[in-house]
Amino acid sequence: MSDAAIAEAGPVTVRRLQRDDAEAVRELDSLILGEDRSTTWAEYIERFLAFSRLGTHALPWSGSQVAEVEEGVVGFLLAERQSSGYGLPPGVRVVAIAVHPDFRQQGIGRKLVEALRADSKRQGIKHIYSVLQDRDERDAEFLRGCGFESAPVKVFVAEA
Ligand SMILES: CC(C)(COP(=O)(O)OP(=O)(O)OC[C@H]1O[C@@H](n2cnc3c(N)ncnc32)[C@H](O)[C@@H]1OP(=O)(O)O)[C@@H](O)C(=O)NCCC(=O)NCCS
Repeated sequence: MSDAAIAEAGPVTVRRLQRDDAEAVRELDSLILGEDRSTTWAEYIERFLAFSRLGTHALPWSGSQVAEVEEGVVGFLLAERQSSGYGLPPGVRVVAIAVHPDFRQQGIGRKLVEALRADSKRQGIKHIYSVLQDRDERDAEFLRGCGFESAPVKVFVAEA
């Protein structure tokens, strides 16, 4: 993809993440720096990339998706199964979502969430989650825009 800002995404395809997408995920991740990177952004991407190096067969189903335009992958959503621990019903958790800075505000993030929702439904999964830190207000707005609501859950923490 060129460095020039591209105004319009054109047709967007969202599909399940594959092992071969690792390089595109790494490139996109490397573009998201500083304040643009929410505090929730974790080491999960490195976990996915490490996992993708382990073999050549298909990844086990996790709900993870990528968004592609003619120029290549411009967005990803990494997800994992949430067990029934912590009082939450079982479901799928969004652990990282990113859209290339030149392609934002065009509904691609929402499309990634919708693909996860549809894919989860097909798997018989009833809930999709995301956990944010309080200060990640932009991401809270994004999730609200995608139909998520705050859950009545409290997290307690103490020094070890
Ligand atoms: C968060 C992110 C994925 C949004 O992607 P996007 O493709 O621009 O989002 P969409 O265009 O699909 O927006 C969907 C809704 O989210 C909201 N939204 C999106 N970006 C927003 C922003 N910067 N501030 C406030 N609300 C925003 C809007 O309500 C929008 O709904 P609308 O159509 O009614 O306006 C993108 O900003 C990003 O990659 N951020 C950096 C990585 C990151 O920190 N990810 C989140 C934590 S894992």
